[in-house]
Amino acid sequence: MLDLLITNAALPDGRTGMSVAVQDGRITAVEPALSAPAKEVVDAGGYLLSPPFVDPHFHMDATLSYGLPRVNESGTLLEGITLWGELKPLLKADALIERALAYCDWAVAKGLLAIRSHVDTSDASLLPVEALLEVKRRVAPYIDLQLVAFPQDGVLRSKGGLANFTRALDLGVEVVGGIPHFERTMAEGAASVKLLCELAAARGLLVDMHCDESDDPLSRHIETLSFEAQRLGLQGRVNGSHCTSMHSMDNYYVSKLLPLIAESGVSVIANPLINITLQGRHDTYPKRRGMTRVPELMAAGVNVAFGHDCVMDPWYGMGSGDMLEVAHMGLHVAQMTSQKGIRQCFDAVTVNAAKVMHLEGYGLDVGCDASFVLLQARDKIEAIRLRANRLKVWKKGVLVAATPEVATTLRLPNRPPATRLMT
Ligand code: FE2
Repeated sequence: MLDLLITNAALPDGRTGMSVAVQDGRITAVEPALSAPAKEVVDAGGYLLSPPFVDPHFHMDATLSYGLPRVNESGTLLEGITLWGELKPLLKADALIERALAYCDWAVAKGLLAIRSHVDTSDASLLPVEALLEVKRRVAPYIDLQLVAFPQDGVLRSKGGLANFTRALDLGVEVVGGIPHFERTMAEGAASVKLLCELAAARGLLVDMHCDESDDPLSRHIETLSFEAQRLGLQGRVNGSHCTSMHSMDNYYVSKLLPLIAESGVSVIANPLINITLQGRHDTYPKRRGMTRVPELMAAGVNVAFGHDCVMDPWYGMGSGDMLEVAHMGLHVAQMTSQKGIRQCFDAVTVNAAKVMHLEGYGLDVGCDASFVLLQARDKIEAIRLRANRLKVWKKGVLVAATPEVATTLRLPNRPPATRLMT
């Protein structure tokens, strides 16, 4: 007897009327109108059953700290970094853990079951690192939390930066980060990329660097990152996050850069909510959007994902852990309004992001983990349009969140009373 049988589901690939069978936390069959004895049968009602949302770029050590110790008045990236610097000496491990766990609750409610979080390694105490390693242990039954060592103040620029960084890796942080555009010069930024990629290669770790998060058209760290990925044989294991300077780069240069990124197997993460908010701040009008060239990267064969980056922290006062909101903003900023483009934006917060994180068992194929989200929407496009309600969320066959179907009762003059679903 099956543990769970979900019937009459629409799938992200467009198939409808599909059944998904689950046994021992794994998918054992995906077939049209399957009938088999099961302990529990869930009629999906024609709604979309998707693998869970994946956020490949987040800062869980800062989340839900909005207003501590003050609000970012200018709204800029640099004031955010200054503000984070003011908050760090005041951080207490228990409070940080509590905020992170509260965010993870929000995430599960939104069907977000895998998060790659950067964790600041700049301070010698490594308090955020130890706190998030504890959070990772606690949420492991329901969220895949992957941690990136992130030298916020610059691995070369800050005193003891490299020593603290390597200690974080020794403690079990599993991805090598970096912030080359925050090092003192372009040359030192390039040196940090080389140094950190060599460190990752020596330890067999993945790489994910904040790369060119500026409006500087001459910032070149994604070029260096791609070169190092190829030189060290790290193809498929390296990611460039943000890459906002690419928005402002010369078109001729970009025509050379895109094939270089593709050939080095480097993936790119854009963070639409944050990029549209933080970039172009030095512009008058017209103001640049600042997000990297998403459709062009995709067309060049680069794996592109979208991240949330921030929720209620020194850089951003909005957000709720909703990756459909991220995809919604992404498609607007990138003008990906074709049907294909909208579907690609859904993929950017699901399969593409899972690929960046090297998640095992992700997907809706037989043998994959029985982790999925049932959305109150018929397909990927409607899911983004409505930022659809998450009706049910399963992790390895176990129901971890449920939200009632949203419906509004209308009582209008000259109209019969009616109930309207959010579709
Ligand atoms: Fe970030």
